[in-house]
Amino acid sequence: FTANKLNSQAEITLAMIKPDGYYHIGDIIAEIYKAEFRINKMKMVHLTKQQAEEFYAVHYGKPFYNNLVDFMSSGRIVALELSKPDAIQAWRNLIGPTNFEVARREKPNSIRGKFASDGTRNAVHGSDSSENAKIVESNFFFGRNSFKPVALFDNSTL
Ligand code: PPS
Repeated sequence: FTANKLNSQAEITLAMIKPDGYYHIGDIIAEIYKAEFRINKMKMVHLTKQQAEEFYAVHYGKPFYNNLVDFMSSGRIVALELSKPDAIQAWRNLIGPTNFEVARREKPNSIRGKFASDGTRNAVHGSDSSENAKIVESNFFFGRNSFKPVALFDNSTL
């Protein structure tokens, strides 16, 4: 009963550890637990360029789009479905500002403040809305027809 009750109040968000953040995977997961998120699902993948284009389709045509999809398909990433009350905002607070200089200057203890190194290499991603988190982003990585991982951790039935 307690678990169900907690679950019913929880929101989910989709986090990614980007190829540069991959080198800090232990520290980033420690931050996730310290902030009392539950890791529902976790999947290590190497996206093809086409898959990265699909994930970031909403940004197609923006000046950073090509750099972003090249980078996101350049190495391994880890996708995580996280849950806790107000998870989307809580995760965005924990990761800090998108821009690495702002993150370092204004939120030096955030994940990006610590690990981001330039405009493209900003260590992590977080969903920006509940609809995006569930219907688009979590489904992209964990939906029935999503692609095969390098490794999969599934905590959802425990
Ligand atoms: S926007 O236009 O406001 O919607 O863009 P924003 O939310 O700031 O960023 C969208 C994603 O693009 C990444 N980004 C970049 N990638 C590479 N190079 C540059 N210069 C750049 N600027 C922004 C940004 O990190 C966002 O990716 P995610 O994975 O969501 O963090």
